[in-house]
Amino acid sequence: MVGVPKPETSRPLDAITAATLNPLFPRLLLLPKETFLTSPSNNPSMNYKHKYSVVKDLYDTYVNADYDLKFWLKECKKEVLELTAGTGRVTIPLAKAGVKVTALDISKELLSNLKAKAKKAKVKINTIEADMRTFSLKRKFPLIIIPFQSIQELTNPEDQEACLRQVKKHLEDNGRFIVTMHNREKRIMGKYVHPKSSKKIFFSAKRTFNQKTQVGTAFQTYEEYGKKGNLISKKIFKNNYYVFRKGEFESLAEKCGLKIKNIYGDYSKHRLNENSPFRIFELTK
Ligand SMILES: C[S@@+](CC[C@H](N)C(=O)[O-])C[C@H]1O[C@@H](n2cnc3c(N)ncnc32)[C@H](O)[C@@H]1O
Repeated sequence: MVGVPKPETSRPLDAITAATLNPLFPRLLLLPKETFLTSPSNNPSMNYKHKYSVVKDLYDTYVNADYDLKFWLKECKKEVLELTAGTGRVTIPLAKAGVKVTALDISKELLSNLKAKAKKAKVKINTIEADMRTFSLKRKFPLIIIPFQSIQELTNPEDQEACLRQVKKHLEDNGRFIVTMHNREKRIMGKYVHPKSSKKIFFSAKRTFNQKTQVGTAFQTYEEYGKKGNLISKKIFKNNYYVFRKGEFESLAEKCGLKIKNIYGDYSKHRLNENSPFRIFELTK
């Protein structure tokens, strides 16, 4: 997950979390029974499909961001192909505004949440379970978007290139492609309420960065506490994300035959500078 959640409150790391986040600590010995860990595979690209399974019930609780919705509602007018739609955080508001959305994601579980939300909101959304590196829809779109910095989910340049090539194939001649990424790191911590059990959840994240592979890793920990303050369950979501160097995405886009029309530093379309929170690219063929 590379979005920026909006926590209710924040607090420092508690001792148990700090200890379990230490890679040298025998983590499993400390964890209560109901603990789920993400796939142990060391190959991040093998994890794209299942990585969000561990937070499928929690995603909408801790990712309640809406800072980008105004932007997407302005950009998406008639029809859009949304890659990495997830649980429909962007998809549902677009569909409610009358935009015809095709929502693609690799996670069956997150898409099933999206479908339930669409039913509840009484909107029709075409959902597609597919990989953004290999999808083939036999039709083209006037607009393709990758919101919420999710291009960074692809943790190596080969995967990113494969995705951009598929985007180009699915773009109409005058079509636009809008993709966003983080420009700066942000540390997240917060306190939430579990959507089903209503118990308290403490969320904390620790990040590491590998200079060689340009892959950042966020170890996101969710601790669920009972009424007496007892730790009931703990989930650790290990999220790998790619950090683009300055100019790197631009070169990759050019290599894939995509031209940059505009670059913004935030969702209000301010000019990009080194303090901008995001890098937002609008491209054409
Ligand atoms: C941070 S979530 C963003 C979800 C949603 N766009 C939002 O704004 O909340 C990243 C999404 O990317 C999806 N994803 C990761 N790798 C993918 C891939 N290779 N192909 C398609 N979707 C992928 C995940 O399943 C997840 O739903």
